[in-house]
Amino acid sequence: MTEPRDPTQATEVHRVADPGQTRVASYLAHPNEVSRVLLLYSGGLDTSVMLRWIQDEYDAEVVALTVNLGQPGEDYDVVRDKALRIGAVEYHVVDAREEFAREYVTPAIMANADYGDGYPLFTALGRPLIARLAVEYARKSGCDTIAHGCTGKGNDQVRIESTIATLAPELKVIAPVRSWQMGRDEELAYANKHGIPVKGGSESAPYSIDDNLWGRSSEGRWIEDLSHAPDDDVFQLVTRPEAAPDEPQVVEVTFEGGVPVALDGERLDLVELLDRVAEIGMRHGVGIVDHIEDRVVGLKVRDIYEVPAAAIILKAHRELERLVSTIHQNQFKPGLDRKWAYLVYAGLWYEPLRDDLEAYIRHVNARVTGTIGLKLYKGNVRVVTRESPNAVYDAQLATFAESGGLFSQNASPGFIELWSLQSRMAWRVRQGAES
Ligand code: ARG
Repeated sequence: MTEPRDPTQATEVHRVADPGQTRVASYLAHPNEVSRVLLLYSGGLDTSVMLRWIQDEYDAEVVALTVNLGQPGEDYDVVRDKALRIGAVEYHVVDAREEFAREYVTPAIMANADYGDGYPLFTALGRPLIARLAVEYARKSGCDTIAHGCTGKGNDQVRIESTIATLAPELKVIAPVRSWQMGRDEELAYANKHGIPVKGGSESAPYSIDDNLWGRSSEGRWIEDLSHAPDDDVFQLVTRPEAAPDEPQVVEVTFEGGVPVALDGERLDLVELLDRVAEIGMRHGVGIVDHIEDRVVGLKVRDIYEVPAAAIILKAHRELERLVSTIHQNQFKPGLDRKWAYLVYAGLWYEPLRDDLEAYIRHVNARVTGTIGLKLYKGNVRVVTRESPNAVYDAQLATFAESGGLFSQNASPGFIELWSLQSRMAWRVRQGAES
């Protein structure tokens, strides 16, 4: 095994030519500024090694914080015991599910949030909340520095550090994984040496997972091989469509002002509703996305997403929004939605443009009230019914059954003549130029 590196080599600030003068970024901590660290702790290998490594490298106290955003199957008592056993002086777990659903997922639904055709942003939405809570708990527990387990290749470092630097200029950041240059084997050896328990054994490298109540991503292993079709074992939430029930199921999602409020007629609070929708989607093989993604930092990566709730809710929302909006609104909003999604993806939650866009997005959504029925069948989600008091739809007008008296069909040719006027003239001019 390799020993931890010389501490003067081990941090980002020390790797610059003149550490006294230069920092890669103003918010990075010099080792001598670090005495009490708020660590964003998941209980996994990276952050467990980090918990111990920070105590040793910086001679600092560590306060560990875990944020519950509805990641399934997490036992926070186990995480707490582990943190305390590795030497945390305090441990906190925050149940932020309600706030996450209300303040982050809700605007994402209103914005039909999608990045790069398939990623509903669950991780990107969670990071600014996690970082905000890190700031809150760092201040409450007298920490000078926040530590996180993001690598130097991903989007999450951007999201977390942007948020911290925005909200708490007085706090510093360390990101040991970015600089310690330990690989998985070295981390395992380090864990071994310091008696840090390793969940699930150490034989094979696991997928890199991130999840919350809005979805789950897997990265790493064969996923990095673009020619490798998904192995079944990557799907831990969603039933494989081929194994899903032979009977379809119809679910009805009711929205009020753009917010989902009921499932099959039963009013539920948002966290519960998202949970139940996810469960139904999982059973029917819904929400599997095999995604190539352009990260903020330039890399392209492949993610396998399981997003059963988002696949259903977003489809229903988009349908209802289209129904209550005019053709002009429907053509305009996707551009704003795309910009909103990109700002969130790229870690700029606190960018004022997000607020500006949301003012419009929320205004449109005030009318997004009604119920959408969707049929789920072996991985497929299809809208089958729509109902809204605000629908810009009149069955009388649209019907083929009889000639309605509401406008004269005989007026249409006059419209067509003017509507096509410029196009016809331009066509003729071009025909002339060619001959
Ligand atoms: N590609 C997605 C994103 O950038 C998911 C990242 C998952 N994060 C992780 N640490 N595994 O938002």
